[in-house]
Amino acid sequence: MRAMFTAAGLMLAVTLGGGAFAQPPQFSPRDENPEDYPAGPGRDDTFYACTACHNFKLVAQQGMTRRQWEDSLQWMTDRHGMPPLPAKDQRIVLDYLEATYPPRQPAGRGGFQNPFAPR
Ligand code: HEC
Repeated sequence: MRAMFTAAGLMLAVTLGGGAFAQPPQFSPRDENPEDYPAGPGRDDTFYACTACHNFKLVAQQGMTRRQWEDSLQWMTDRHGMPPLPAKDQRIVLDYLEATYPPRQPAGRGGFQNPFAPR
């Protein structure tokens, strides 16, 4: 009798354990952390909001204005099924993206700054 209960318990454990493996595959191995990216307010929130679907490198290699980042988020929502971020979170995410990944200056390659450029 006792053995039967144990067996049932084992079966349950196996079933539950198996269920976890049936999840759709995330990108793996998890090869990046928020710490891999420039520190700033909202970094971790942004990282986790975006890495639900793709790695953050995809985000970090872009450089955009706030407006363009906003459009990107809209596009994630419209085309890729990202749940829309609550306004407060969206502000946090956009603050981080705008501060950390602004548009790259076309002349900024190699760090050259024109000393005569108007400021
Ligand atoms: C619900 C899923 C989902 C979420 C959440 C998500 N994305 Fe995406 N994103 C995608 C898919 C799908 C693609 C296009 C396919 C690919 O290249 O992996 C993509 C591509 C991108 C690209 C590349 C566009 C290009 O021109 O190559 C950027 C930038 C981007 N996402 C930004 C973000 C940011 C920023 C966040 C977090 C605030 C985010 N995404 C969250 C699904 C998502």
